[in-house]
Amino acid sequence: MKPFYKTQSNYFPLLSIVVFATLFFGSFCYIQYIKIIPFPDFTQESSNSTNIQLQEAKKHDERSVSPLEECDLFTGEWSFESGSSHSHPLYNEEDCEFLTEMVTCLKNGRPDSLYQKWRWQPTDCYLPKFEAKSLLDKLRGKRLMFVGDSINLNQMLSMVCMVQFVIPPKKKSFSYASYTTVFKIEDYNATIEFYWAPFLVESNADPPTMRDGTAVPLLKLESISKHGDNWKNVDYLIFNTYIWWRYPTMKVLRGYFYDGAADYVNVDQNVAYEAALKSWAKWVEENVDPNQTSVFFSSMSPTHIKSSDRKNTNGVKCWNETAPIPNRSTFNVGTNQRLLATAVKVIQSMKLPVHFLNITRLSEYRKDAHTSIFAAPGGKLLTQEQKSDPVRYADCLHWCLPGLPDTWNELLYTIMHKT
Ligand SMILES: *[C@@H]1O[C@H](CO)[C@@H](O)[C@H](O)[C@H]1NC(C)=O
Ligand SMILES: *[C@@H]1O[C@H](CO)[C@@H](O)[C@H](O)[C@H]1NC(C)=O
Ligand SMILES: *[C@@H]1O[C@H](CO)[C@@H](O)[C@H](O)[C@H]1NC(C)=O
Ligand SMILES: *[C@@H]1O[C@H](CO)[C@@H](O)[C@H](O)[C@H]1NC(C)=O
Ligand SMILES: *[C@@H]1O[C@H](CO)[C@@H](O)[C@H](O)[C@H]1NC(C)=O
Ligand SMILES: *[C@@H]1O[C@H](CO)[C@@H](O)[C@H](O)[C@H]1NC(C)=O
Repeated sequence: MKPFYKTQSNYFPLLSIVVFATLFFGSFCYIQYIKIIPFPDFTQESSNSTNIQLQEAKKHDERSVSPLEECDLFTGEWSFESGSSHSHPLYNEEDCEFLTEMVTCLKNGRPDSLYQKWRWQPTDCYLPKFEAKSLLDKLRGKRLMFVGDSINLNQMLSMVCMVQFVIPPKKKSFSYASYTTVFKIEDYNATIEFYWAPFLVESNADPPTMRDGTAVPLLKLESISKHGDNWKNVDYLIFNTYIWWRYPTMKVLRGYFYDGAADYVNVDQNVAYEAALKSWAKWVEENVDPNQTSVFFSSMSPTHIKSSDRKNTNGVKCWNETAPIPNRSTFNVGTNQRLLATAVKVIQSMKLPVHFLNITRLSEYRKDAHTSIFAAPGGKLLTQEQKSDPVRYADCLHWCLPGLPDTWNELLYTIMHKT
């Protein structure tokens, strides 16, 4: 085992709506890095803004500012931004034409917008101010790809909105194919992409017609190269897989998908998860050139389905929640800790350094940030009648945009500028 980095470590409009809806609907469904990935002083980098931001932070309060390379970006608190100096949200919902109804909570009728105004404050340092141009400079001539389930699509859309306003109208495009969604930035010869592979390995949930989450998933734990062929030579790869692992035992296929469910075995969820991640790790080690590509793995995006875990016995899932769980409180929202530990273990055992985006805990606080009844399952907004039945209809998996995934991207941005 290698030392573990101390990481904090053209749509046809209608089709697109249906397709996105399908992607999302189907999906109700970690930086102790491996060794300190050396990162140059920001002053040698093209990112002036980072230094400015860190210095300002020093002036404003007595918080001791650790050099970013020592800072655990994922331990901290949510700080509410009020007044004129607020920096969040990083964009306005109505200004980002690429958002779908799945995430436009205000447009869909959400009465409060407080969830947009929280800033993540690590305990030991300040996050650099997000600069869209600086991210685009990093991406010049490059491809960045999110790979995984609809939570990663949620994050991809967030990143598109975080940068798109600095690109002139005719110099950007958004296109969808059944597996890959691509945002192209012409002048930079750059792309921000999403690749659908909810289990990373092959499954019967992969084809577009199977993404509604109604079929019991069948997995092929060793099969990854069919998907993986599409990830080769990408410069930034951000993987996730969690919300589809929702059965205590998973069905693992021994034959071929077209044989139907005839030849499968039931495998303990955690055993299957580990096997899938090992296939993924092997693919990464065999196919990724660490001199070209930075690899990230996002830890579990939490759900807020059991409000009883949050001492709010009258609550209904995440419905009607308008504030995060208070800073530093003790709580348990039901994240699958076994799977989380398994992901950490597999990543620690890898020879190739993988940046662990440890977003789970910081996101667990954000019971206020889900799309809830202001989502559009199956591409349709909920009817008034459905809205009045949050037990059944509230989506407490996905997140409103602007919102929490923007913070994940700020963390990703910070690490991208370190490496
Ligand atoms: C940093 O900022 C200064 C002044 O704002 C500018 O002249 C310089 O080109 C910038 N450096 C980089 C690397 O962007
Ligand atoms: C992720 O962050 C949480 C919150 O700070 C921390 O408790 C946990 O140990 C971290 N996990 C890893 C693997 O770094
Ligand atoms: C956490 O503390 C910050 C100030 O340190 C405060 O602005 C914020 O409201 C607190 N967060 C929550 C969720 O109460
Ligand atoms: C554009 O970027 C791709 C990699 O994403 C690269 O292969 C290609 O050579 C670049 N084209 C130009 C004109 O720079
Ligand atoms: C990465 O670059 C270093 C130094 O340029 C070189 O020694 C090493 O062999 C390269 N690694 C790979 C996998 O190409
Ligand atoms: C929603 O929450 C607010 C306080 O946050 C409360 O006053 C209101 O009664 C709640 N609505 C319902 C229908 O429970």
